[in-house]
Amino acid sequence: PLSPPRQGTRQGPRSVVVTGIGALVTNDPAFGPGPLGVVRDAALVVEEGRVVWVGPASAAPDADRRHDVGGRAVIPGFVDSHSHLLYAGDRTEEFNARMSGRPYTAGGIRTTVAATREASDAELAARLAAHLREMTRQGTTTVETKSGYGLTVELEARALRVARAQLQEVTYLGAHVVPPEYADAPEEYVALVTGPMLDACAPHARWIDVFCERGAFDADQARAILTAGRRRGLELRVHANQLTAGPGVRLAVELGARSADHCTHLTDADVDALAESEGRTVATLLPGCEFSTRSPYPDARRLLAAGVVVALATDCNPGSSYTSSMPFCVALAVREMGMTPDEALWSATAGGAAALARTDVGRLTPGARADLVVLDAPSPVHLAYRPGVPLVAEVWRAGEPEV
Ligand code: NIG
Ligand code: FE
Repeated sequence: PLSPPRQGTRQGPRSVVVTGIGALVTNDPAFGPGPLGVVRDAALVVEEGRVVWVGPASAAPDADRRHDVGGRAVIPGFVDSHSHLLYAGDRTEEFNARMSGRPYTAGGIRTTVAATREASDAELAARLAAHLREMTRQGTTTVETKSGYGLTVELEARALRVARAQLQEVTYLGAHVVPPEYADAPEEYVALVTGPMLDACAPHARWIDVFCERGAFDADQARAILTAGRRRGLELRVHANQLTAGPGVRLAVELGARSADHCTHLTDADVDALAESEGRTVATLLPGCEFSTRSPYPDARRLLAAGVVVALATDCNPGSSYTSSMPFCVALAVREMGMTPDEALWSATAGGAAALARTDVGRLTPGARADLVVLDAPSPVHLAYRPGVPLVAEVWRAGEPEV
């Protein structure tokens, strides 16, 4: 489903005008009120996989083909900037135990590591493809995913190769946890992650990530890993302040990481640091994780009030957040995190694009990739107003209908 954009065929229509759009979310204030830049009674023209025109339907130019969406809302495809889809096995029992009162400790990561080590390349690829199809059906058109359940040189590189064959945004997370065979020698594992494992993984990844948390990697280890990655040309993102108010967020800002992810437990100094980065470091909030671990949600309102750029993503993984649904995350962000429906939608589209340093997605304005979602609703507010309802009617990626 996420194959590279196809070129327009010679026989087929080259341009399409999408008309009858009740509300078009452009994410560009130049086109309409507010950060969502909503155009009412709109049309949009797609050519060669790109948006070439947006505006009022009454002013729409001619195209080879017309597609009328009957007054429904159209939004940019969701940008899910944080997931862990390169794994095998199942953690239903751990979820069951948690819902009977056990806390989430991230110790379950090792369960998935054991299962992933047993899986074939073909199984890993097939599971990734199945999850990506599931995401597409729910309106997601850009996905980031990470390694982190192999934790050997060969298996981390294998996961990233599998990911690269299906996706553009691929992240090396050899520093997810210290695997059991290095339990007594964590510094040796850090040396592996910054040495031979990095050599094997860097060619297949755009990003490097570290789980900076008590029980995973401390600030010094995380700094060593991230700076080694940067020397190899990787861009930085950090799992920060998920379980405790640790040093992750400040380290992410200090090193100029593009995103600090989770941001659940923040001190005032953390919020100030993110604000002072002036959008250079995005705070990526992952409410599926708090939902699935029965934990208090991050305070999005506090971050927005400080001027921090906020993204929303699923964190889809078999342990802490096994949802692939961006609409669900939008609804949670609104109900549980103090975001307005408009803010949550912006964060799930333009915010995700910012967290991935992408300017071609997360917006529907001329020049953008034609990734659009037609909602079975007159307004995008329905994403939060009608939680759990399958509102995604059509999904186009690079101008091609996929759903
Ligand atoms: O983002 N925090 C670390 N990693 C994942 C959890 C992975 C797991 O539990 O398997 C996360 O929540
Ligand atoms: Fe994660």
